[in-house]
Amino acid sequence: MARILTGIQSSGIPHLGNLLGAIMPAIELSRDKANDSLFFIADLHSITTVKDGATRRTNVDAVAATWIALGFDYDQNMLYRQSDLPEVCELTWYLSCFVPFPMLQNAHSFKDKSDKLSDVNAGLFTYPVLMTADILLYDANIVPVGKDQQQHLEMARDTARAVNFHYQTEVFVVPEAKIDTNVMTVPGTDGQKMSKSYGNFIDVFQDPKAIKKQVAGIVTDASTLEEPKDPELSTVYKLFRLVASAEAATAMAEKYAAGGYGHGHAKAELTEALVAAFAPARERYNQLMANPDEIDRILAQGADKARQIGTRTLDRVRSVMGTGPRKLM
Ligand code: TYM
Repeated sequence: MARILTGIQSSGIPHLGNLLGAIMPAIELSRDKANDSLFFIADLHSITTVKDGATRRTNVDAVAATWIALGFDYDQNMLYRQSDLPEVCELTWYLSCFVPFPMLQNAHSFKDKSDKLSDVNAGLFTYPVLMTADILLYDANIVPVGKDQQQHLEMARDTARAVNFHYQTEVFVVPEAKIDTNVMTVPGTDGQKMSKSYGNFIDVFQDPKAIKKQVAGIVTDASTLEEPKDPELSTVYKLFRLVASAEAATAMAEKYAAGGYGHGHAKAELTEALVAAFAPARERYNQLMANPDEIDRILAQGADKARQIGTRTLDRVRSVMGTGPRKLM
């Protein structure tokens, strides 16, 4: 049995990059009955960038509704809110005493965010330690993530190994990243990595008109309609092939290469593909968003189950580190 774990921050409504890069591959893995899956909403991580509490609550609902609408079997597995298990904060402290300061200084994601954001807080800096705690607390074997999280996963592995080595015992399971090479980094409307913080995302749960508007905003080159075009240079094509069938993607590539086919045509096909591919999920998502009590019930059930795993790990950690009460034998 493999334990699969991954998290999505509640920093907005999950976008197409989150869906294709992390959520859908994770749900696919969870369908294997031999696996045991823990998927969670990283609301503590989202405080690094989002400060408003009401916004966070809505975003937590949106992330939970996304997991459920896309078919995650939360009864067989666990879907929970990170902050419902404050045990993760205790573990973060222990781990931070084992993480070398330069390792955090060299994190690409921190460098990238600190260049772009005006609020460069300590939480952004220690973000990978909380993420490591998320993973190690639940003895995860496999962590499906997008490519941007690869370095964070390496830090989690290094930290687990460092603690195990120090205490000469297997305190933690050493996790492995699972990055879907077909998807890797989903481009945003400006051709850069799709990201909530860059404002270049596509939200597939909106109504079709709004999707059309976001797709219309995809940046394309200034070539004329008649000119043959290299599909590999078109963000519209790159997104289309991620959501359409292989045949439809090949057909679009051929039309681009033949000429007489413009980016406007491709955008219309992409809009249609996005609207159709997510139609059932969109309906379920909207039902759930109108019923937050149902979401809360599902998350509470997930937290209860996850706690049983987390408590055992924390007992092992406290025992080797000599914290907490002595166990009465
Ligand atoms: P977040 O919310 O920023 O991203 C969630 C997941 O979506 C993937 N992703 C993408 N994949 C492909 N193309 C894109 N443009 C794209 N944008 C985002 C991310 O790689 C990620 O897998 N730090 C995590 C949240 C987290 C976590 C964890 C994940 C917290 N604790 C423990 C795994 C295990 C993050 O990036 O969230």
